[in-house]
Amino acid sequence: MTASYPNTRLRRTRASDWSRRLHRETTLSPADLIWPLFVTSGDGVEEPVTSLPGVSRWSVDGIVARAQEAIDLGIPMIALFPNTPPNKRSDDGAEAHNPDNLMCQAIKAIKDACGEEIGVLTDVALDPYTSHGQDGLLDDKGYVTNDDTVAVLVDQAINQAEAGADVIAPSDMMDGRIRAIRMALEMGGHHNVQIMSYAAKYASAFYGPFRDAVGSGGLLKGNKKSYQMDPANGDEALREVEFDIAEGADSVMVKPGLAYLDIIYRVKQRFNVPVFAYQVSGEYAMIEAAQTVGAGDRNALLMEKLIAFKRAGCSGMLTYHAPVAAKILGG
Ligand code: PBG
Repeated sequence: MTASYPNTRLRRTRASDWSRRLHRETTLSPADLIWPLFVTSGDGVEEPVTSLPGVSRWSVDGIVARAQEAIDLGIPMIALFPNTPPNKRSDDGAEAHNPDNLMCQAIKAIKDACGEEIGVLTDVALDPYTSHGQDGLLDDKGYVTNDDTVAVLVDQAINQAEAGADVIAPSDMMDGRIRAIRMALEMGGHHNVQIMSYAAKYASAFYGPFRDAVGSGGLLKGNKKSYQMDPANGDEALREVEFDIAEGADSVMVKPGLAYLDIIYRVKQRFNVPVFAYQVSGEYAMIEAAQTVGAGDRNALLMEKLIAFKRAGCSGMLTYHAPVAAKILGG
């Protein structure tokens, strides 16, 4: 088949809005969105995050109000991250498996208020709980150990599941943690608790504002390159995904989002499993910065980026812009 002009004019179907809508290959809806939220201590507390203009940490009561807002907007799931008080951070991150930690308080309060109306995703990694800001336990040379860390992550995951979390999302990049968490969930009777694995998570410069939000940025010395992936690698991401699916992940995540669209595409083509992108804090900050300096329109930039994730193969996206996007989409 050879297309030739003027028999074929690709502009014909673009000439009017009704036709553009009719020929649209990919669509967005509020149901594609997962809203990450930061939990802090206290009551009636809202603390704006300076490097994420428009994003705040909320105490548990405020988190419940955000969950209600998400339901009203048609957003199916929220993701929780704690800003652990400094006196509860330790070398071993033991607060991660305290059944009364901020995360568990928030999960229970949301589930009491909203039940099945919204999904609650909880992050598994030790960085919001350690005094050194790394995602795992350190040996005496400062190396993040794998197997000892996995044992603690299992305790953390079970603690969250027992509080009522619907989806466990390990973001730590230890080897073998999906199998260990899946087995513990099965043995604990949590058969329907999902695992959304941060399967291809890169050692990225786009996480800065997040580390401010959870309070680990100032504590972190060095980097996370001995466990998070090298941004130069794509084949390796497919191996990570293959392992995590085999070990029991229900869905996989690619993170950050926009700089890794090729990875999203390859994962979807190769494995045909549900893939999610995390449009991370630095990506949010870039859109807000563009709006502030007049380099672009926030809403238009946001919609273009979100549709790119869908086009590449995503089932959905984690984005701090979720409520903004849901409003644009009429949720
Ligand atoms: C923790 C974690 C990070 C993010 C999500 N979970 C930071 C990191 O790995 O240092 C980043 C999210 C964002 O930047 O929005 N393991």
